[in-house]
Amino acid sequence: MASSTSPPSGDLASRILQSLDQTSPLLSSEAFPDASFVEVKAALDRLASRDMVIYDTIEREEAVLEPEGEQIAANGSHEARVFEALRSAVDGLTVQDLEKAIGDKNVVKIGQGKAFKEKWISKTKDGKFKAAQESIKDVTKEQMLTIKETRTYPDAKLLADLKKRKLIKMQKIISFRIHKGPKFALKIPEEATDLTADMIATGSWKTAAFKPYNFKASGADQRSGALHPLNKVRAEFRQIFFEMGFEEMPTDKFVESGFWNFDALYVPQQHPARDLQDTFYISDPAAADKPRETSPDDKKDYNAYWENVKAVHQDGKYGSIGYRYPWSGDESLRLVLRTHTTAISANMLYKLAARRGPDGRPPPARYFSIDRVFRNESVDATHLAEFHQVEGVIADANLTLGGLMEFMDIFFGKMGLTDLKYKPAYNPYTEPSMEIFSYHKGLGKLIEIGNSGMFRPEMLEAMGFPPDTRVYGWGLSLERPTMIKYGISNIRELLGHKVDLKFVQNSPAVRLDKD
Ligand code: PHE
Repeated sequence: MASSTSPPSGDLASRILQSLDQTSPLLSSEAFPDASFVEVKAALDRLASRDMVIYDTIEREEAVLEPEGEQIAANGSHEARVFEALRSAVDGLTVQDLEKAIGDKNVVKIGQGKAFKEKWISKTKDGKFKAAQESIKDVTKEQMLTIKETRTYPDAKLLADLKKRKLIKMQKIISFRIHKGPKFALKIPEEATDLTADMIATGSWKTAAFKPYNFKASGADQRSGALHPLNKVRAEFRQIFFEMGFEEMPTDKFVESGFWNFDALYVPQQHPARDLQDTFYISDPAAADKPRETSPDDKKDYNAYWENVKAVHQDGKYGSIGYRYPWSGDESLRLVLRTHTTAISANMLYKLAARRGPDGRPPPARYFSIDRVFRNESVDATHLAEFHQVEGVIADANLTLGGLMEFMDIFFGKMGLTDLKYKPAYNPYTEPSMEIFSYHKGLGKLIEIGNSGMFRPEMLEAMGFPPDTRVYGWGLSLERPTMIKYGISNIRELLGHKVDLKFVQNSPAVRLDKD
């Protein structure tokens, strides 16, 4: 056994070779009791792949002491301890004295019962315990010591008894029986890892030992990139829009003129949303150009549109009495960080209004966008000065409000959001306007999932749409569904400089239609 001789020095593989040189076969659990199963297996695989050893795995059971068994091995059985305590007290002991002497009530309780049965102790006339024999043999303690040392278990009957008394338990031991292999040697030969030009030239490849391939080695860690949760949720929204026949709008500009962000949308110039407290204004350059053509084949009459917008705000037009205030062109040319992607929708709708299909009308259209917007808000757990909007518009003749509600059922239904509820709301550019709510099973309440409406004729007719064109519009934030999906309560964990990269790397994939 290895415990009698000190183990040979060196790594485990060479220790195995040296031990095997003395004795073959060898049992790993006996020869290398200090090495773990995994270490032994790795060393053996290394040697076996070079045919230096052959091994097989053997499983067997060993008996090991339970805590109470250990206690008995160290201090003796309960009955023996009771006997020993009484043997040294000539006049016998009361139960209380006995408990004091042993210091464990439980040991006294069990021990005295058994000691009586073995006739090791008896009672005096005045009810004290006393020893009834000169000496005893503590068989249980001896059994525990034998098991502890040999780890082999006693005959079946005793084994069952000791297990029942919770003194020992069986443990599965896996070890290896190791034999010398056909290429056994005391050392692993020097091995080449690559075939070199030199080896071919000199012919040394013929005799060289090559390191075997280790097909079980795990590859190097791949430092792959990770998509941010917002990107994952955005991909899901895009998929739904594409499925429903939408085109994506180009949203690649953060700066807009007030004209597209507000005036085109019939937001009056006194509207609180246009205040400095709500909107970030750009100081340099100070003003935008008036809306104008951007290519020679752009034949739209931007000037007429500009005048229409002015007229509908200031004096009223298209059957509307307007807001009746002096509309300022300079105000509409101030530059802003766009406060909503509806600025892009307005621009796209204006372009659409100028197109003519075979019937002489603008063709029906479905547009969407998902991009960043900016609001001058004080930052808290659910608000940032920048966030992302998901927005869609649908334009066609004679659309109805019922059609909008049906569309929302289908659109949000694709995300698993059902039983929608609508609440009347106000947007300067839509009439009617409705907030959309859905019952969230996880949160157990109605949550607002979006804002919607039908764009006003003041906005659409100024662009040149026929009076019977109706346009649905709706928007929601990308952050809100993402926070709900990922169970995030503070938006700063999702966006901004406090985001933990590990959170991004470890975020699971997302499906909007699955819980
Ligand atoms: N622009 C709105 C918002 O900021 C969303 C919306 C878009 C509402 C289109 C109606 C129509 O919330």
